[in-house]
Formats: sequence, C-alpha cells, structure tokens
Amino acid sequence: MDNERITLLSAREIEKMRQAGQLAAQLLKHLEPMVQPGVSTLELDAESERWTKDHGATSAPLGYHGFPRSICTSINEVVCHGIPDAKQILKDGDIINIDVTPILDGYHGDTSRTFFVGEPSPLARRLVEVTEECMMRGIAAVKPGARIGDIGAAIQTYAESNEFSVVRDFVGHGVSRIFHTAPQIPHYGTAGKGKKLRPGMVFTIEPMINEGVYEVEVLDDGWTAVTQDRKLSAQFEHTIAVTKEGVEILTLHPELVPA
Ligand code: MF3
Ligand code: CO
Ligand code: CO
Repeated sequence: MDNERITLLSAREIEKMRQAGQLAAQLLKHLEPMVQPGVSTLELDAESERWTKDHGATSAPLGYHGFPRSICTSINEVVCHGIPDAKQILKDGDIINIDVTPILDGYHGDTSRTFFVGEPSPLARRLVEVTEECMMRGIAAVKPGARIGDIGAAIQTYAESNEFSVVRDFVGHGVSRIFHTAPQIPHYGTAGKGKKLRPGMVFTIEPMINEGVYEVEVLDDGWTAVTQDRKLSAQFEHTIAVTKEGVEILTLHPELVPA
C-alpha cells in the first residue's frame, strides 16, 4: 500500500466524498443520544445499519475482510475494531469509540468519535480531550507542500507532552471508492519527512492515543485490538481533502465546526 501511487481526486469526486462524509457525520450525531448506560453495542450497530440503508447508503465494514458488523465499537482498553455484541452493555464511566463508514454512491465517508457513557473519570476525560486535540492538530498540519511526517509529528508531540502514547500498528489511509488505499498516514513521525501533500489527496487522520504503553494486541476474535497493558485508549477520525488553500474536513458535522 505504501508504494502505490496516490490518486488525486477531481472536484467532482471530492463532491461525492463530501456527500458521503456528511452522511457519516450525521450518522454519528444520530447515534450520540443512544450512548447511555444499559445500551448494548449490538443495538448501536442495528440502528446504524437501519439508518444507513434508510439514507440510501451501505455500511462498508459489514463483510469487509470478514468483519461481521456494520460499525466498530471500541470500549475503554479496546483500541479499535471492537465488534458490536449483544452481551456488551455500556456502563456509567465507560468511553466508547464509534467508527462508521457509510458508502454513498460508491464513495466512503470514514469518521469516528469517542463518547462518554454517563460521567467519565477525570483521567478518561483528559485522554479523550487530548485525543481529539491530537486529531485537530494533525489536520491543521495539512496543506499543499507539507509532508506526511508533519501530521504524525504534530500528533505525537501533543500526545507525548500530555504523557500519553501514540499507537503505531494502525494508521490513517487514503479513502475514496476504495476503503483503505495509499497513502498510509502514521500518527507519529518526523516533521519534514515523507511524501509531499498535494491538492486532491483525500485521506483519514485517526489517531489512537493510549493512557499507558502504545503496544496493542489483537484478541482471538481476530479483530478486537486492545492495549497491551489494558489501560484506556481513545480515538477520533476525520476524512479530509487537501485543497489549494489548505484542508477541508469532509466529515465535519455542521454543528461541530471548531471556533
Ligand atoms: N473504519 C475503520 C477505519 O477507520 C476500519 C474498520 S474496518 C473493519 O479504517 F473491518 F473493522 F470494519
Ligand atoms: Co479509517
Ligand atoms: Co473509521
């Protein structure tokens, strides 16, 4: 995937990505009020699948390399790719990342947020806030002529200055008609290194930030990635386009535009 050519999207294709991205943002907003103690992750999955179909789209994760559900739900020590399950019931104090990827008219909108279930601990709140800020600092590093390493460097600097760690084993990715394509976007790295960003590149920035060590393990289900030390992990994800002016967040909900 790393040696593949990076496709530049036309204005018409970026408009398609914007529509898919906006649908993804709306889906997360739609699910937000359901994130309450007592709700199972399978209920979140079922509602996502219903809502997505209702809006003329399909769920990219369902059947993707055999993934069995329509969204990923990653609670507490789960780093990513948690599988919705009827036995997995949200409880007060949990943090849960919900990662959605509707396909609309052939194009993928890939976005995730970490939500609080009831009242978080001060540490969980800080981890989640730092993780969102990591994503936004990574996005702010994007403009034509900047390099892929600038994104990871911005994220890693902020995470580590807060004494958290950056997951190495999962990266952001090019996304368009294909779910995961070139380029890979590490969430750690060195400013000034890596390929140059050009207008028309579209990719995700999706840092996973850990309370403790950055190492992860994959459970026997073949999907669920957890922190090696079983401490907390949080994640946020946007799909972005490099523009002539800088960057456009394709999955930004109109009500969540930063000040
Ligand atoms: N949405 C995830 C990402 O951000 C990928 C999920 S793949 C799945 O790249 F198969 F686990 F659903
Ligand atoms: Co992604
Ligand atoms: Co995703």
